[in-house]
Amino acid sequence: MSAFQGKTVVVGVTGGIAAYKTCTLVSTLRKRGALVHVVMTRNATQFVTPLTFETLSNHPAVTDTFARPETWEVEHVALAKAADLFVIAPATANIIAKLACGIADDMLSTTCLATKAPMLIAPAMNTGMWTAEATQNNVETLRRRGVHFIGPEGGLLACGDTGAGRMSEPEDIAEEIERLLSGRRDLQGLRVMITAGATRERLDPVRFMTNDSSGKMGFAIAEAARERGGEVILVKGHTTAAVPSVSRVIEVDSTRDLYSAVTETAGECDIIIQAAAPADYRFAESHEEKLKKQDGQELVLRMVENPDVAAAVGKMKKPGQTLVGFAAETQSLEANAKAKLSKKNLDLIVANDVTVPGAGFNVDTNIATLITAEGEEPLPMMSKRELADRILDKVLALRDA
Ligand code: PMT
Repeated sequence: MSAFQGKTVVVGVTGGIAAYKTCTLVSTLRKRGALVHVVMTRNATQFVTPLTFETLSNHPAVTDTFARPETWEVEHVALAKAADLFVIAPATANIIAKLACGIADDMLSTTCLATKAPMLIAPAMNTGMWTAEATQNNVETLRRRGVHFIGPEGGLLACGDTGAGRMSEPEDIAEEIERLLSGRRDLQGLRVMITAGATRERLDPVRFMTNDSSGKMGFAIAEAARERGGEVILVKGHTTAAVPSVSRVIEVDSTRDLYSAVTETAGECDIIIQAAAPADYRFAESHEEKLKKQDGQELVLRMVENPDVAAAVGKMKKPGQTLVGFAAETQSLEANAKAKLSKKNLDLIVANDVTVPGAGFNVDTNIATLITAEGEEPLPMMSKRELADRILDKVLALRDA
């Protein structure tokens, strides 16, 4: 049965040109079996008429232009209670700010404040407004409260600027809604540690060695694990992606810091997934003062091996624990990954060839092969979020075996 069947999705529409794309979203949701109600702000009605949404949703579109204000109280409570999911598309900087502050001064913000349903926000605005510190702080506040975001995407904006600010495509929003509606809670009661990001090995106060890990892969797993009911501990090195809200975040700098954080916490965890990219080597000497340039002279730096965090966790593995590692390879993907699987005493290794476009570092997709002692499962290119769920499915299957 479709995840949409019999579910009520309330679609909030705010004033932006992307509101025309919300017509397709409403129509898609209905075609897939959802009951759809639309709530529009006064500004939204300037872009698309309520009649359009009424026709597409087959329900009256609720707006702020009330003929009979006495229906206000009843209607906002009724929709807030009826919603299985609340989506705001497009969401302006204004509605995001109102939700972050708990302001309820119109039909949409009032209904949002009253609802207990999961909420998905698809922002659309000018790049400057999206990147403004105030907006980003509001987004962070909402994320911490468990609100989900999709987009905005980059590209040419209606205002003529280029950058992040375009609303995600209706099909992508519908897919995200489907994922949220099908919400499995199969990690309930399990504590999951996930490592993400790059370590830094310091040469002197201004120089360090690192890699391109953005944290996207580890964060996608953390987000998926949280949504599936797991208690998530995120151990993160240096990252550029938005950090998901989880039970606990431990920040680390070097591989040795990662080693301490992970080995100290591993004993408390049921599942440990190591997507971080720790440096295998560090400088033999780390200088207190900035190294001076020696004109005309070669600089030879000696490096020593760092501890292998995953191997250490593998050595201290407790009964009932499931250990997952990643293998970032540039050649002989499967052979190298299999060697790491056994050397690090892992239950599962996620092998990715980081030279292939659409895979590996700092992209939103990955191409991976899931390898266990029993066999291997090559997967096509998919979003890191989708891969995260495939990894968690595999972990649960291994635990049930
Ligand atoms: O963060 P993104 O930009 O999304 O990029 C994702 C990713 C490419 C970083 C991720 O998909 C990935 O492949 N992570 C593993 C990177 C890595 O260090 O691979 P490795 O083959 O060198 O290490 C194998 C395993 O041992 C990994 O689980 C790693 O975390 C771990 N390791 C490595 C070195 C070390 N000293 N200690 C470790 O525990």
